[in-house]
Amino acid sequence: MVEEAITALPLEREPQGLYAPIRYVLSLGGKRIRPVLMLMAYNLYHDDVKACLMPAIGLEVFHNFTLLHDDLMDKAEVRRGKTCVHLKWDDNTAILSGDNMLVLSFHYMMQCEEAKMPAVMRLFTKTATEIDEGQQYDINFETRNDVTEAEYIEMIRLKTSVLLACALQIGATLAGAPEEDAQALYRYGECLGLAFQLQDDYLDVYGDPAVFGKKIGGDILCDKKTFMLINAFLHASDEDRAVLQEWIGNKDCNPDEKIKAVTALYTKIGVDRMAKERMNAYYTEAKACLDKVSLPEERKQVLREIALELMGRQK
Ligand code: IPE
Ligand code: IPE
Ligand code: MG
Ligand code: MG
Ligand code: MG
Repeated sequence: MVEEAITALPLEREPQGLYAPIRYVLSLGGKRIRPVLMLMAYNLYHDDVKACLMPAIGLEVFHNFTLLHDDLMDKAEVRRGKTCVHLKWDDNTAILSGDNMLVLSFHYMMQCEEAKMPAVMRLFTKTATEIDEGQQYDINFETRNDVTEAEYIEMIRLKTSVLLACALQIGATLAGAPEEDAQALYRYGECLGLAFQLQDDYLDVYGDPAVFGKKIGGDILCDKKTFMLINAFLHASDEDRAVLQEWIGNKDCNPDEKIKAVTALYTKIGVDRMAKERMNAYYTEAKACLDKVSLPEERKQVLREIALELMGRQK
């Protein structure tokens, strides 16, 4: 349903320079996890999920807008196995087509039941603001060397988790779910989102580029202060810490050598395993949130399954 609705969006418009990149990025697939979570949350209470299809599409368009700007900011080259918009076209295109997608996302999000719209738009605008805050922290942290694990977790909660949480809460709100359920689903999304970004950071180092669809090592080259880098500094021997220190912040070195050296240190120090353990802890917390949703267990099974699926994702 999500894929069909995206294909049916009226984006064959002029000027091509604005709309072709939008069609391009939306046609490249991706997991569509945010709209699917919204439909699933709605579906906990009602079967006719069509009622929240357009807000779900709005959320996916919004997510894709963040990717256009994120790839420009992160100097990424490949997304979903294809050239990023800022390279296939140019920086201005990524900015303006992205801006247009942001506006379009509000246009689609508003296509919901009139009485529920204020609550939906309140949460959506709050979420959009938080994502900007998270993205700014992410960039600020690139040039800082004293970022704590707590700061990292808050940064990924803002840049990633709140959008998954927002998807679930909007689905619940549109379905007329009790407020306590909507809040429990929001927290479930937050925990799921923390595990999700930890896995994204893990795959950025250890993923298979052909499956992950992004270039491996991008975070290392940008000196992103990920859970793995922060913990590598904390747990390294003095000797390894000194070597790591040489690489981090060094923009003049050979990129492939930097990726190789930092990855080897991560594996030696064991931060890959630590990231997996932390992911599991958030997964466990996510499952506990579902226990609080006042519905029979069989109704919630699908959300438990998708959480498990996301934990093991390779793309
Ligand atoms: C990528 O999101 C950005 C992050 C928050 C890690 P996804 O991993 O959901 O990307 P697609 O939409 O499936 O390509
Ligand atoms: C992305 O984080 C968060 C947002 C797009 C808001 P990343 O920068 O890690 O996402 P990818 O790895 O480029 O998809
Ligand atoms: Mg990025
Ligand atoms: Mg980024
Ligand atoms: Mg990433």
